[in-house]
Amino acid sequence: MTQKETFDKILSQIREKLSSENNRDSSLQFISDILKDNVEHYDWVGFYLVEGENDLVLGPYAGEPTVHTRIKFGSGICGQAAETKRIFVVQDVSKELNYLSCSPTVKSEIVLPILKSGNVVGELDIDSHKIGPFTDDDKEFLVRVCSMVGKYFQ
Ligand code: SME
Repeated sequence: MTQKETFDKILSQIREKLSSENNRDSSLQFISDILKDNVEHYDWVGFYLVEGENDLVLGPYAGEPTVHTRIKFGSGICGQAAETKRIFVVQDVSKELNYLSCSPTVKSEIVLPILKSGNVVGELDIDSHKIGPFTDDDKEFLVRVCSMVGKYFQ
């Protein structure tokens, strides 16, 4: 299967799951698992949820447990993405100064803010054990994934 076919298949499986699932955490867990299990360069996949004015709290995830269960806006790649409302693609985390390490095996990371009415309500965070694995196709695919979960946020 080509990567595009894999991405299309995952999108339709997520669409189907979300059409019949009203529980946010079940859906976010489903997405974390399906992404980690089906895309080779996704080694840790998880969601952070915004709490209060400037905290990110770890939600459902697939992969190794992380010590970073609560992150302030501005701190690390996740915090920077939340503060700026921008997608962060870091192809080599050893070159990023404002970075919170979960494990030495992680070499790169992509973080996408989930926006609702212009506000950041959560984030999708993916770590990879490869350097430089993320392409515009990943970004485009993951933007679509993020746009599908909006219904779970107020
Ligand atoms: N590396 C992230 C912290 C979260 S973990 O990747 C799960 C960061 O710098 O914000």
